Amino acid sequence: MRSRIIGTGSYLPDKILSNRDLEQMVDTTDEWIITRTGISERRIAAPEEYTSTLAFNASERALAMAGISAEDLDLIIVATVTPDFPFPSTACLLQSRLKAVNAVAFDISAACSGFIFGLATADKYIRTGAVKNALVVGAELLSRIVDWPDRNSCLLFGDGSGAAVLQATDADVGIMDAFMKSDGSFWELLYQPAPGSRNPASQKVLDERLNFIRMQGNEVFKLAVRAMEDAANQVLAAGGFSVDDVALFIPHQANRRIIDAIGKRLAVSEEKVYVNIDRYGNTSSASIPIALDEANRAGRIKRDDLLLLDAFGGGLAWGALTIRW
Ligand code: UT7
Repeated sequence: MRSRIIGTGSYLPDKILSNRDLEQMVDTTDEWIITRTGISERRIAAPEEYTSTLAFNASERALAMAGISAEDLDLIIVATVTPDFPFPSTACLLQSRLKAVNAVAFDISAACSGFIFGLATADKYIRTGAVKNALVVGAELLSRIVDWPDRNSCLLFGDGSGAAVLQATDADVGIMDAFMKSDGSFWELLYQPAPGSRNPASQKVLDERLNFIRMQGNEVFKLAVRAMEDAANQVLAAGGFSVDDVALFIPHQANRRIIDAIGKRLAVSEEKVYVNIDRYGNTSSASIPIALDEANRAGRIKRDDLLLLDAFGGGLAWGALTIRW
């Protein structure tokens, strides 16, 4: 038994925050941001939108493409680091809005690798026969935890969501192999200090701006390139594939220079690498499913194509996945 993707969907909030807008907010320039990151603009959710709203919009589109109803879902996994609440899970809120009454629902916290970890987890449930239809969502409202006065990090992030519907199949298609890895010893390189059990909500949290993202960009950058290269090689080797077998490479959209460096190390030709970071910035767990949905709807993915998905993020947590379409 394997799991194949039968529907994809994504949602991006309407509001665009351009590099020019950022020039008015912090000491930076459009040119610096484009040269160092490849980002031109990012989306910002409206005040009345929550992560569950973003997740719902992407999920509706994925279910419509899949041609199944929410009631057919047995499992819902939402990958997010910006849940509506610490609890209950955003997946439960999504289940309620979708009226997916037959699904068990839970969140996964694996930062930018969340969608890959979610797909890999759903795939395991499907392979055991416990689940027939699963919905995996990456949804992030990072603009609410970005430290806007911090020019070292504020330019990178954006809001958005993407979803995929998986269905059990006995054909030799769908998710081929998954590779997942974590190294918690580097947790301080990228994290949100509060609110949580170490730093519950308090005046101190607000005064010290502990409720916003802390990132050591340079260190993350170096580790990301090495880890994503390794993850890609591991997952290709697991299936007996070579880079030449890959029709489309969808890396996590963290920084254009990271994407280019990995593409070069893996020797994937440029036209096979999917890039949309210029329009959305880094949307963490949502970046891969947004890219997957865009590529799918644009007709860039053909039946039998081999896809390589590859991500890296806070945790540290990273992973890669191959899919026969
Ligand atoms: O999904 C995983 C999440 N995170 C990542 O993947 C982040 C990975 N890291 C990065 O993308 C990059 O490290 C950044 C884009 C965050 C920074 O780029 P960098 O090339 O590593 O720059 P840097 O931090 O080494 O800074 C270079 C210079 C510094 O000035 P000095 O010390 O050389 O005079 C910074 O102060 O650029 C300065 N700088 C800026 N200048 C204009 C830093 N941020 C800005 C800015 N505008 N926004």
